[in-house]
Amino acid sequence: MSTTFQLDTSTSRAHPTPAPMKRLTVPDVRQRKVDGATAEPIVMLTAYTARSAQLLDAHCDLLLVGDSLGQVIYGLPSSVPVTLDMMIAHGAAVVRGSYHAAVIVDMPFGTYEASPEAAFASAARIMKETGCAGIKLEGGEAMAETVAFLTRRGIPVMGHVGLTPQAVNVLGGYNARGRTEAEADKIMADARALDAAGAFAIVIEGVVEPIAVAITGQVACPTIGIGASARCDGQVLVAEDMLGLFERVPRFVKVYENIAETIGAAAARYAADVRARTFPGPEQTYQPRAPKP
Ligand code: KIV
Repeated sequence: MSTTFQLDTSTSRAHPTPAPMKRLTVPDVRQRKVDGATAEPIVMLTAYTARSAQLLDAHCDLLLVGDSLGQVIYGLPSSVPVTLDMMIAHGAAVVRGSYHAAVIVDMPFGTYEASPEAAFASAARIMKETGCAGIKLEGGEAMAETVAFLTRRGIPVMGHVGLTPQAVNVLGGYNARGRTEAEADKIMADARALDAAGAFAIVIEGVVEPIAVAITGQVACPTIGIGASARCDGQVLVAEDMLGLFERVPRFVKVYENIAETIGAAAARYAADVRARTFPGPEQTYQPRAPKP
């Protein structure tokens, strides 16, 4: 079901039609996995703007304001330069644009790793200034103490293991993880540590399928796969990747549309109209009112 919006021109507020449903909460999502099984897989997509949130919201359980916005929105080479202010501005926009999904905001690199206290200060700013339902951070065993610290203080935490893009400079690239026994053991230990620390869900990214399946069977909280396995408890993709905004996408992306082609074709038609002076036409121009009789 898709939501549309009526603009109240006197207040500039957008009111959703049909009337908003109750927003999902983090406990709603966590409780979808019962005794190791998730009857209905959890649907998550990234959203970075109010309008994309409006369009994706009704179809998703979770909207992730991912720090992938660094590359997707800002053209940065990786997520490493993304700042807390960027995440907060986009997180607030996505919360404003959504009524149904629980909104999770990524903690950007450098804002949480130094100590649980530093993580709390950053996460509290995100929660207060965006109105989101929880935060996501990358890392496993090394972050377990921080996850427990935040969770005990009222901040729901989604973990992220396997290919962790903020660690690209240590990992040396974006290749799939878990191909060696040592790497697989480490990723499993990371996921178990986050689960024990109280993470409400764990993203498993770019991990060989048997490891993703094993983690999903071993942890109590839901796993959300991206480049992992259909047997995870849910899935996430970067919305712009699955919509076909980029020519090159990772192998694990299924492209459902080709909006790059649609945008390019529309811009070409507009440019041709402008050059031919056929835009604006009579429907797009204002004429003086006829004088009243
Ligand atoms: O930043 C992001 O978009 C993410 C998802 C790909 C999981 O972390």
